[in-house]
Amino acid sequence: MSIRPIRLFGDPVLRTPAKPVVDFDKELRTLVADLTDTMIDAPGAGLAAPQLGVGLRVFTWQVDGELGHLVNPQLTLSEEIQDGAEGCLSIPGFSIDCKRALSVVAHGFDMYGEPVVVEGSQMLARAIQHETDHLDGIIFVDRLDREARKEAMRFIRESEWFGDPATQVKISPHATNGLGI
Ligand code: NI
Repeated sequence: MSIRPIRLFGDPVLRTPAKPVVDFDKELRTLVADLTDTMIDAPGAGLAAPQLGVGLRVFTWQVDGELGHLVNPQLTLSEEIQDGAEGCLSIPGFSIDCKRALSVVAHGFDMYGEPVVVEGSQMLARAIQHETDHLDGIIFVDRLDREARKEAMRFIRESEWFGDPATQVKISPHATNGLGI
């Protein structure tokens, strides 16, 4: 178990669709432990494997004091929508309102290969949607309307970490105020 550097916006791994997990082995369990440790340290509400540079369909969350993880998720989204602040640990220091489905049913597997179903609403639903997007190479700014996306891109361009490969490590431990996922 260890805390690992979080990849930041601009790193190609965040734009690469992750592959389904095939082997539910010790390596996967180490990955889940590293995701959990790194997410708690950040602190964040969720973390996806590509954010640690690993192209596998795995993520963790920490919402309302509950820790969880999911492997190879398949989501069913509610038609009802929520709107509220969202951030990303790969864009430290930025958050903005983002529309998401209000609730979600996620089918997948735990790290031992057992099928699991996770049902969530509000923040848990937001985190699960955000992390599943990461597995598809989607970053939450892609979900924003035009004006909000421009604001996000302006923030990113003006960030000192942007485009600097030396600052792949996290910059400010509490910059996302726990909103980062
Ligand atoms: Ni994120």
